[in-house]
Amino acid sequence: MSTRVQSYRIEPGQSLGGEIRVPGDKSISHRAVMLGGIARGQTTITGFLESEDCLATLKAFEQMGVARRNSPRGEIILDGLGMHGLKAPAVPLDLGNSGTGIRLMLGLLAGQGIEATLTGDASLRQRPMERVAGPLRRMGASIETRDGKAPIRVHGRGPLHGVRYELPVPSAQIKSALLLAGLAARGRTEIVSPAPTRDHTERMLQTMGVAVEVSDDGLTVSIDGPVDLRGTDIRVPGDLSSAAFFIVGASIGRGRELVVRNVGVNPTRDGVLEILRLMGARFELENRGELGAEPVADIRIFPGMLRGIEIPEALVPLAIDEIPIVCVAAAVASGRTVVKGAAELRVKESDRISVMARALGAVGVTVSETADGMIIDGGRIHGGAIESCGDHRIAMSFAMASLASERAISIADTGPVATSFPGFVDAAGSVGLKIGVSSS
Ligand code: S3P
Repeated sequence: MSTRVQSYRIEPGQSLGGEIRVPGDKSISHRAVMLGGIARGQTTITGFLESEDCLATLKAFEQMGVARRNSPRGEIILDGLGMHGLKAPAVPLDLGNSGTGIRLMLGLLAGQGIEATLTGDASLRQRPMERVAGPLRRMGASIETRDGKAPIRVHGRGPLHGVRYELPVPSAQIKSALLLAGLAARGRTEIVSPAPTRDHTERMLQTMGVAVEVSDDGLTVSIDGPVDLRGTDIRVPGDLSSAAFFIVGASIGRGRELVVRNVGVNPTRDGVLEILRLMGARFELENRGELGAEPVADIRIFPGMLRGIEIPEALVPLAIDEIPIVCVAAAVASGRTVVKGAAELRVKESDRISVMARALGAVGVTVSETADGMIIDGGRIHGGAIESCGDHRIAMSFAMASLASERAISIADTGPVATSFPGFVDAAGSVGLKIGVSSS
C-alpha cells in the first residue's frame, strides 16, 4: 500500500501541453474482476487499472479461489469459477479505500452461498453501507453491518429472490450491487433510479451473455435470474475521472494544447464535459470509437477563459466524482458558480463539500458551503497550504489549481492518490507540471 504520509508542493508559473494517456477506468476495472470471477471460463482484461483500490478487489477474488495470471503483454487473465464457485475466504476481505469495491462485492456475495467479512481502510469504514445492505435483505440476504458501516458480515445462505427497488438516491453502486445479487436470485430484479447513473455494469453483463432490459428513459433496469455469465475479453478505456484533472488543468492554465488519448466517454458518465462546455471551456472530441462495450475518444483541450455558471442539477450525478475539479475550474472562472443537488458528495472518500470549501478558502478563494453544494466566487487563486484529508480527488484537483495560482500550493496527505491514479506525479510531469513530493 502507498506511503500514507506524503505531501505535494507545486510551484506557480507552470503550464500543460502535449499528449497524455491516463490509466484505465476504475469503475470498469472493478467490475471486470468481479464479473470475470463469477463467470464460467476465462476473462482477459486489457488496460486494467493497477491502482490500490482495484488491486484490492483483485486480491479479494484470489482469496476466494480465483486463479489470476498476467499475460506477457500485461493483460490480466482470470479463470472464473462460475456462479456459486467462489470459496469462503479464510480472512476478512479488505477493499481498501473503495466504496465501489465493497458495495458491489456485498451485492455479489449476497447470493453466492459463502460467508465472508468485508472491510476497508479508516475512510471506507466511515461510509454508509445500509443503502446496499437494506435492499439486499429484502432479496433474502443475511447481512450484518456494524452500525450501518463496515466491517460487514455476509452469510451467503439461502436463495435470494428478485425484487423491484426504487433507489432513494441516484447511485450506480447501489444499482450495480442489486444487479449482481440479482444474477443469483430467483425471478426478476428491477431497479428504478431517480436519475441516470453510470451503466458500466449493464454494458458488461450484456457482453457476458446476460439479457439486461433497460427502459427507454434509462431509469429502470431489470434482469431475470438466476443466470450464468460467460467469460469474455474486456478492454478498459482510460478513466474520464482521471482525464478530467488534465482537461481542467489545460483549460485554466496558460499553456499549449493538450491531447488526452483513449478516454472513456460513456454518456452516463460524461457530465463533466457538458459542465465545462457551459463554462466556456474549449475542447474537441476526436477519433471517436468503441472499446469493447464502451465509447471512447481522444480529447483535445485548448487554454481559454472560463465563466461561472449555475451547474444544472441534472448534470451532477453524471459528474459526481468530477465536482472537486469542477470547483477548481470555478475558482479560476470569472463570476459565480453555484453547485447544488450534490449532497451525495458528503458521503464520498471524504465529505467533499466541506473539505473542498475549506481547501478553496485556504488558497484564497471566496466560497461558501451550503447543505447540498457550495457557492464559489471565481477570479483568482492566491495559493497556500491545503489539507486533502486523504481524499485522492481533492489532492489531484489542487495539484491542477496550481496552474492558475499566484503562489505555490502545498497539499497534505496525498498518499491515497495511488488508490485511483498510480503514476499521477509522473503523468503530470510528462505534460509539463512538476510536482514536488515529500514522504516521511
Ligand atoms: C461508482 C459510482 C459512484 C462514484 C464512484 C464510482 C461506480 O458512486 O462516486 O466513485 O463505479 O459505480 P455512487 O454510486 O455511490 O454515487
